[in-house]
Amino acid sequence: MEFGDQFKASWKDSFIVGDSEIDAQHRAFFDEIMAVAQALDRGEGREAVIAFYRVFYGALRVHFRDEEAMLARVAFPDIEEHHAEHQALLASVAAVEGMLLTGEGVDQWRFVVKRLFVALVEHIAGTDMRYKAHLRDFRRKLSPCPERLRRIP
Ligand SMILES: [Fe+2]
Ligand SMILES: [Fe+2]
Repeated sequence: MEFGDQFKASWKDSFIVGDSEIDAQHRAFFDEIMAVAQALDRGEGREAVIAFYRVFYGALRVHFRDEEAMLARVAFPDIEEHHAEHQALLASVAAVEGMLLTGEGVDQWRFVVKRLFVALVEHIAGTDMRYKAHLRDFRRKLSPCPERLRRIP
């Protein structure tokens, strides 16, 4: 099995949080990780991983900003805690950068990609799932219930 194969089908619909912008960003991270893993399988090395890493890190910052703005709009009560989790994840992703500059060999690049993938999945499948129900309930309260509409004369 090639390295890239383990990331195929790693996206699950249960990861969907119900906000189209946020869900598209989450999905794009999986696609980017898959693309760099396949690039390693084709024999690419440090440059490919560094290029991926820069895009990934930048996109992660944008995503966290957008996600926190969305959570503020829907009055998510644990937004401070979620912000702290984002900061911790950014710090652990930033800590990987040194490995890209000093590391050697395909095993090292695979290790970096796998580590970023695990951190991402843990956050999306764990931490992000904590606002899913709140988001759904908030939107339900906003959208008029068809039952109630029918009763309006
Ligand atoms: Fe997220
Ligand atoms: Fe998040």
